[in-house]
Amino acid sequence: MIGKVKLRAFEHEDIKYLHKWFNNAESISMIGRTPMTFEETEQLVFKMRNAGAVIMGVENNDQELVGWVHFSNMVLEHGRAEIGVLMSPDYRGHGYGKFAMKQMIEMGFNQLRLNKIYLTTRGINERAIALYKKLGFIVEGTLRQHSYINGKYVDTIFMGLLSQDWRKM
Ligand SMILES: CC(C)(COP(=O)(O)OP(=O)(O)OC[C@H]1O[C@@H](n2cnc3c(N)ncnc32)[C@H](O)[C@@H]1OP(=O)(O)O)[C@@H](O)C(=O)NCCC(=O)NCCS
Repeated sequence: MIGKVKLRAFEHEDIKYLHKWFNNAESISMIGRTPMTFEETEQLVFKMRNAGAVIMGVENNDQELVGWVHFSNMVLEHGRAEIGVLMSPDYRGHGYGKFAMKQMIEMGFNQLRLNKIYLTTRGINERAIALYKKLGFIVEGTLRQHSYINGKYVDTIFMGLLSQDWRKM
């Protein structure tokens, strides 16, 4: 346990919670999915796992599942992976996302021998961008009008963190 959360393996029975989190309105506009069925959510997790993703459930001090965090698109020859995070709508703004990201980054650099962790986020996602900058991610590029959200085209921001620049919060 570092800070407020612990990472543990994301289990099959956790998918029913993920399904609810995905269908929250903020999740839909920030991650960009139309509402998903349970089966679609299950398929997404299977597809990620089959492609080699490392998926962790995030637990708080009361052993409640409050989110997930994962590495996908891992290219070990190049030492890089993409990180993704989603917290339960009931637990956003409690500091859990920050500690979950911190632990996952530690795992990436210190266990999985990654050199670079990167992500993409919507330009409108102020909370996520503030969090990523606080962790040391740097904006490496902007994909202009990359998504269409609530009737508007919005940019996608590409951010990266190098192991040499990783600093503890
Ligand atoms: C983005 C997300 C993962 C952040 O996790 P969280 O647990 O809600 O965030 P935290 O409480 O750890 O806050 C982290 C930082 O974000 C910033 N922040 C928090 N709330 C904010 C807000 N409403 N507006 C702007 N910045 C905010 C603060 O800098 C905060 O750091 P601090 O606590 O040291 O001040 C979570 O809100 C979430 O799942 N959102 C929906 C899905 C999503 O956007 N996923 C990311 C896609 S790229």
